[in-house]
Amino acid sequence: MDLEQHFDATIARDQRIEPRDWMPEGYRKTMIRQVAQHAHSEIIGMQPEGDWITRAPSLRRKAVLLAKVQDEAGHGLYLYSAAETLGADRTDLTERLIEGRQKYSSIFNYPTLTFADVGVIGWLVDGAAICNQVPLCRSSYGPYARAMIRICKEESFHQRQGYELLMTMMSGTQAQRDMVQDATNRWWWPSLMMFGPPDAESANTAQSMAWKIKRHTNDELRQRFVDMSVPQAEKLGVTLPDPELKWNAERGHHDFGEIDWVHFKQVVSGNGPCNAIRVSRRRKAHEDGEWVREAAAAYAAKRKEAAA
Ligand SMILES: [Fe+2]
Ligand SMILES: [Fe+2]
Repeated sequence: MDLEQHFDATIARDQRIEPRDWMPEGYRKTMIRQVAQHAHSEIIGMQPEGDWITRAPSLRRKAVLLAKVQDEAGHGLYLYSAAETLGADRTDLTERLIEGRQKYSSIFNYPTLTFADVGVIGWLVDGAAICNQVPLCRSSYGPYARAMIRICKEESFHQRQGYELLMTMMSGTQAQRDMVQDATNRWWWPSLMMFGPPDAESANTAQSMAWKIKRHTNDELRQRFVDMSVPQAEKLGVTLPDPELKWNAERGHHDFGEIDWVHFKQVVSGNGPCNAIRVSRRRKAHEDGEWVREAAAAYAAKRKEAAA
């Protein structure tokens, strides 16, 4: 009872829960699930843009894209480490991912058809990730909150590189402008879905807010993202593919059209355009890396022996 009071009081004082602290099993499970899904998303998220590394139109674009994709690998690693502080096993988490038992963000199940997709992913997908993740820097679990500080700094570089790429394309030929518009049309709605189901249907939101894991609801964050994106789209010169999108002076926010949640559920449950390829590539990479893990484990054992 004392332990539980201590936990509740720590949360109430807005202080962090640390790995050594007692925590309710439900909190631990929720944190492991959230951190693992986030880690998986970073790692799977390397694939759509990774497809363009060999086809980047210039050395500069290739260097930027390589750095960005490499950052996502780093994000995955910090987050798997954060999950380990909760007692999760890294191998087990990887197996859950490649066996399709644990989810990752549905946004990465869409294909990248042109180089403009690289820019639009930076602008919209990393932009939505920032909206989601900045409040997580104040999340109640210490290792997760601290990992998020560095991740958010890098995400904002990703967002800017995407926007800069699109600005360059928009000042190019008509064909390039058409590519940017087409990519915007394809990624806008999936980006809005990144915030998760509407509050009324979100099973975990209330408990996560009470534990201060989450600070804002899905709908609040989605609205913030829409309000932020509209002026950016105007400056860029693209049209967001939503005829119902308009400023509502009374609310002080933009109204927007209905999201196709039936489609969202299809993609989440494995039937998006690229789900199978994303998971099968991750599985292959894991299998191909078997010898590296074996060598690293043997080396670690040898060093331990030498130290003893
Ligand atoms: Fe990331
Ligand atoms: Fe990113």
